[in-house]
Order: sequence, then C-alpha cells, then structure tokens
Amino acid sequence: MSAAHPGLVDRFGRQHRDLRISLTDRCSLRCTYCMPAEGVPWLQRESMLSTDELVRIARVAVEMGIEEIRLTGGEPLLRADVVDVVDRLARLEGPTGRPELSLTTNALRLPALADRLHDAGLARVNISLDTLRRDRFLDLTRRDKLTETLAGIAAADAAGLAPIKINAVAMRGVNEDEIVDLTQFCVTHGYQMRFIEQMPLDAGHTWDRNAMVTGEEILALLTARWSLVERGDRGAAPAQVWDIEGTEASVGVIASVTRPFCGTCDRVRLTADGQLRACLFSREESDLRGLMRGGASDEQLADAVATCLRLKRPGHDIDDPTFLQPERPMSAIGG
Ligand code: 5AD
Ligand code: SF4
Repeated sequence: MSAAHPGLVDRFGRQHRDLRISLTDRCSLRCTYCMPAEGVPWLQRESMLSTDELVRIARVAVEMGIEEIRLTGGEPLLRADVVDVVDRLARLEGPTGRPELSLTTNALRLPALADRLHDAGLARVNISLDTLRRDRFLDLTRRDKLTETLAGIAAADAAGLAPIKINAVAMRGVNEDEIVDLTQFCVTHGYQMRFIEQMPLDAGHTWDRNAMVTGEEILALLTARWSLVERGDRGAAPAQVWDIEGTEASVGVIASVTRPFCGTCDRVRLTADGQLRACLFSREESDLRGLMRGGASDEQLADAVATCLRLKRPGHDIDDPTFLQPERPMSAIGG
C-alpha cells in the first residue's frame, strides 16, 4: 500500500506514519511529574515556529507519507490560533489522503473550543486526568481545576470528538489507589482509559525507577475488579488494550519503561521551536526552523526529515545504566 517516501523508513525498517507537533511549550497546569511550581524558562517568541512554518513542515511530512498528526504541548489549546492550525492541517493531502488529526490536552479550554475544533477537522482528543479527587488534583497539578477539567471532557464528548481517551500517569503513593475509580469513570461515560508508566521526562529530573507503578501492577489492580480480555495485534500503538467484560469499554496500559514498544515505533516529533526529534528520548534534534529560515526548499526539508530518522536509535534504553534523560522536559518536546 505504501507510496511513502523511503526517507520515512529508518535503519530498522520502521515506517513512520505519525507526526506529533508541539504547538507551545506553555501549560495552564503545573503537574508535579512534568514541571516545577514556577514553570520552566519558556521558549522565546522568535524561536517558535509561525503557523505558516509549522504547516509547511507538516505538509512536507504528509506529502512524504505521514498519515496521522497529533497536536501536543505543553498545552496545545493555549496557542491562540489553534483552530486555524487544525483547519489548515486537516486540508493537507498525502499519498493516502488526508491526515488523521488528534490532540492531547488537559481539557481546560475544551468548553470554549471543542465544537470549533471538531468543525475544523479534529477527529479526537486524548485528555490527561490523573485523579478524580479535588484536593489531589490541586496537589498534583498545583491548580484547583478539577471541575473545569471534567467540564472540558464533557464538552469534547458533546462535540463528537470520539473516541475520548483519558490518560493517567500512575504514581506510587499518589494515585495508584484510583486506578479502579478512574477506569470506572470511563466505563460509566464510554471513554477509553489509558494508564501510563511514568517516564524520566520531568523538568526537575526527579524520576525514580522504584516510585514507578509498573504495567503489571496496574493490570493486577484492574483484574481484581474486572475480567479483562486482551485485544490482539496492537500495531504501532503504545497501549496494550483489554476489553472489560460486561461493559462496552476497554482499558489500556502504556508500559513504556517495563515493556518498551520501540520496535514498532512509527512516531516522530516536531517541537514548538521547529526541531525534529526521532524519539522522545533523542539527544539530537534536527533544526528544521533554521533550515527554513535559511531558505531551504521542500526537497531539502524532506531530506532533513530523512536524515533525522536515519539517526533514530532502536530504543530508548531507559532501563540501561548508561541512560541519559533528554535535556528538554516533556513540556518542551511534546508528548
Ligand atoms: N511520564 C509518562 N507520561 C507523561 N506525561 C507527561 N509527562 C510524563 C511522564 N514523565 C503524559 C501526560 C499526558 C501525555 C502527553 O503524557 O500525562 O497525558
Ligand atoms: Fe518511539 Fe522513542 Fe518512544 Fe521508543 S521511546 S516508542 S523509539 S519515541
């Protein structure tokens, strides 16, 4: 089927189909596992890609064969022209048609934007929600915004941004006692719950292997409550997914650390300041912004994408003693 550009295939035969674009490194929350209370030094305006620049890179990538675009951040809905960005990306055309557009968000601006995003061509959203308790939400995000977050989730649902996926990072002594409650919330509302093993991507570099709740532990908590039936072939999806018997719902676990899925990875990332990263954990970036502002042609940009993917390593090696956390935190890389 593939009319994809050979430059999207890396040395390990992985064909890249999924481009994640960070629209901004800023966020309206301060999740402890991501940012310190005072935030991080934000990117300067001049170093951020303009919307024309961002759409141009996306167009080149889609023409090469990228089939899915996920908008991330920071909090992508803080970008003032996000609806326009979605509208323009949704019209791109690649060898297999238009890209599928999704967005990862904290939901706070969804009551204002969900309908407009849907109309502009957004297919679905992944929403981060680590707790259903107000006091804990405040502790975890340093903002008292649980009610607004829940309103945002309901707004996405009402706008038809389906299926709604809810992401929670499982943390020992913080929210592991809510794994069943969060899942039940999703079963009740018809959302898809996804638990994520915590990865070393926090700005404070405080990640601790032992504090991480493993995928196996998450599964044990779930199977104590429900009968789960594992779904087959997950393709390039990071989540291993189970149908929850007796319900319409499913639950997934993203065991990035204990069961890495790098062998089937099809993702490449563009930061808000125009740096292409072959992996979340890359220590190298390709400066597409510099190339573009230096007058590069579309062919030269496509070559730079291919070069970046040629350097992609087989995996992240988080569990290797020589592992080095990337300098930039998740909020600057894009999830
Ligand atoms: N480890 C795992 N997941 C993380 N996220 C943010 N930081 C981390 C981390 N260190 C999650 C967010 C969001 C998604 C983009 O990534 O909770 O759901
Ligand atoms: Fe892909 Fe890198 Fe994530 Fe592995 S760690 S799945 S290679 S982005």
